[in-house]
Amino acid sequence: MKILGIESSCDECSAAIIEDGKVLSHIIASQIPLHAKYGGVVPELASRAHIVDIVEVLRGAFKEAGVSPEQIDGVAVTQGPGLIGSLLVGLEAAKAFAYVRNIPLVGVHHTEGHLLAPLIDTASGMEKPTFPFMGLVVSGGHTNLIAVRGIGQYESIGRTLDDAAGECLDKVGKMLGLPYPGGVAIDKLSVGGDPQKYDFPRALPQHDNFDFSFSGLKTSVATQLRNIGHMPEGQDLADLCASALEAVVDSLARKTIRAAKKIHAKTIVVAGGVSANRRLRQRLADDCAREKLSLSIPPMKLCTDNAAMIAGLGQYRLKDLVESHAGFDAFNLQPRPSWNLV
Ligand code: KG4
Ligand code: ZN
Repeated sequence: MKILGIESSCDECSAAIIEDGKVLSHIIASQIPLHAKYGGVVPELASRAHIVDIVEVLRGAFKEAGVSPEQIDGVAVTQGPGLIGSLLVGLEAAKAFAYVRNIPLVGVHHTEGHLLAPLIDTASGMEKPTFPFMGLVVSGGHTNLIAVRGIGQYESIGRTLDDAAGECLDKVGKMLGLPYPGGVAIDKLSVGGDPQKYDFPRALPQHDNFDFSFSGLKTSVATQLRNIGHMPEGQDLADLCASALEAVVDSLARKTIRAAKKIHAKTIVVAGGVSANRRLRQRLADDCAREKLSLSIPPMKLCTDNAAMIAGLGQYRLKDLVESHAGFDAFNLQPRPSWNLV
């Protein structure tokens, strides 16, 4: 079964082809350079860029896989959550393709794609997680702790009450005059910094609270900057970055470990752009080793927004439809910008 996946929920335009769980091709056109000068994603520019990119991205996916459009059995597309204009581009491209080929199309949940990404066969040699596992989805748009008991069996254990972790790092980066996305710049600068130099707040520390809040950290960094009285440079800047990052990582790691224990999971899965962060990876690896939990973080290309995770999820959703030779009937598939998984 060959599945085409399409992802366009935010600022990455991506297409991938998967055959029986194996990635045949995977193309991502990132819009980071387009949005960098504004310090964040501009929705209108994002949707326009998706329109420009989508056909080339699809062509690239077929070329890389050595597969023709006639060989595709079903299409999966991100239906939400995300930016409505961006979602529409992927959705309409998916509809057009599936309609012309008269093959089934399913709309899938973006966060669910992130959660199940480690189940995709990437030939990386990484051990696949077993159910139940504790999923931490942590990116510019999401910070969720989700108990995964099987495909389609999810329970929300915690979520951010305000900013997502990546959003917080991006805003702190902007305050410090760093290039977009701030999370990436903070990761680099933190390497030489002292994470204990500034004692930034860890919100909602109670043992039985699994929610996150990062807006206080943002305010605290702003206050610290005012106290310093000038734009920090050199070691001062590295110390500020390392301390702010430590506050984010500390909250994420503590709550994730506690949440895994709460549901008696043996494995923690981390997905989303922030899982690229070196300090977060190190801290989770140390904590998991101490607590005898296994840690599964998909390869980088599957951590950030991508279509392989969408095709990967689509293959479960499409199996029955493909096997029964169902045709296209998804004319009314609409974007769901604020779709909650749980
Ligand atoms: O998953 P993603 O590509 O897009 C969504 O937001 O859905 O995640 C992007 C986020 C940004 O906030 C970016 O700053 C953060 O992931 N990020 C990082 C790193 N790489 C990306 N944050 C910290 N350290 C990194 N190395
Ligand atoms: Zn995402």
